[in-house]
Amino acid sequence: MEKIVVNGGAPLNGVIEVSGMKNAALAIILGSLITEDKCIIENLPAINDVSTSLEILRQMGLGIRMINKNTVEIDSSGAIGGSSPADLVRKMRASYYLMGAELGRYGKAYVAYPGGCDFGVRPIDQHIKGFEALGASVTLEEGGFVKISAENGLKGANIYFDVNTVGGTINIILAAVKAPGLTVIENAAREPHVVDLANFLNACGAKISGAGTDTIKIKGVEKLHGCTYAIIPDMIEAGTYMIAAAATKGTLKITNVIPKHLESISAKLEEMGVTVEEYDDYVIVSRHDKLNRVNIKTLPYPGFPTDMQPQMCVLLCLAEGISYLSESVFDNRFRYVEELKRMGASIKVDGKTAIIEGGKSLHAAPVRAVDLRAGVAMVLAGLAISGRTEIEEISHIERGYDDIVGKLRSVGADIKKVFVPDTVYFERAN
Ligand code: EPZ
Repeated sequence: MEKIVVNGGAPLNGVIEVSGMKNAALAIILGSLITEDKCIIENLPAINDVSTSLEILRQMGLGIRMINKNTVEIDSSGAIGGSSPADLVRKMRASYYLMGAELGRYGKAYVAYPGGCDFGVRPIDQHIKGFEALGASVTLEEGGFVKISAENGLKGANIYFDVNTVGGTINIILAAVKAPGLTVIENAAREPHVVDLANFLNACGAKISGAGTDTIKIKGVEKLHGCTYAIIPDMIEAGTYMIAAAATKGTLKITNVIPKHLESISAKLEEMGVTVEEYDDYVIVSRHDKLNRVNIKTLPYPGFPTDMQPQMCVLLCLAEGISYLSESVFDNRFRYVEELKRMGASIKVDGKTAIIEGGKSLHAAPVRAVDLRAGVAMVLAGLAISGRTEIEEISHIERGYDDIVGKLRSVGADIKKVFVPDTVYFERAN
């Protein structure tokens, strides 16, 4: 096992470059299965979920050639549908994009039910609603597999999502891109990674319009060819480092960003008294005075992102006064609060709202990463507090942050990864 050890309390100052967006990369990598051709994907983040996705495709018979650390050539001509390795598929939620990609390519799909961060119930009923509207039948098979088939082929359809779902929107785009006729998705997700996937598929010859709005139209095409495509920068990674600057009273220049994607995060930080200067492809974030308390409600894009909720909770613990942080996207995304309480945080979770009494002095403590964004929130807390914070179960963090220790060390953080022999680890656990 490994853990992260942070000796915090020092301001972070310097330049951090943001990597490609995890949630765009996973959709595009797994979605490339549908092209039956060679694709070159650039600006990939070097994270475990990307490696897992590429390994899944390799085991399905696709040709995977790393051109460099951040560029891969994927040849999907030799893919064998329905052969994805269940053990890897169950490691992450994004695996369910194989359903849309296989259905779109073969008219059928057979994929293990996906895993991913535990925020309570994460159904796929809207994905199923979309697949069925396109003419497919969906059954949950023994052993936790999803079987989808369209005996009479797929055909374009009108689909209205009951809830705003990123995964559902992406999956239906993949399933519909070769379905004869016109598919219209209403109440579609507007996230930048939905747009990135649509742009990738259009570069492969698809006919998708309206991505980024709540109505997306897809005209079915016969075949898709390969392309070369660069992933957009990761707005959540960028937002995480913006909060790192604010939490440590430092100044960070965060490069390779699209400021438009960061608008809701920048607005909240400015409301808290943090300075955010926006330039073409970078932002400079600094904080010198006290933090103001604020109220935040997470919303689908362009609202404040749910994937920034744990990180923002840490910053609100440092602000003077009572702040309300409401989670409107997931059922239960406050499991990390118990870890922050071990550091002296005063937080009361009432249903989907955390009531944070900021300004309390926090102290370093051993904590664990309960999921990806909660794990990085523990790192932020450790950076803000003087003393030694140890964070266990860091595999969650490494699913989604490219070289977080290296990037933070480069701007002055006293942070390192430490190997913990399993025997020691399990003694602690018992
Ligand atoms: C994607 O998850 C992201 N994951 C999540 O990021 C992100 O938090 C989420 O979108 C919201 O932005 C990936 O892209 C791999 P949803 P997804 O479908 O697709 C409900 C991270 O940290 N819902 O938009 O699973 C669902 O339960 C991860 O990078 C249904 O009810 O999210 C949730 O309450 C964590 N039925 C809400 O909609 C469905 O069929 C939003 O889920 C589908 C979803």
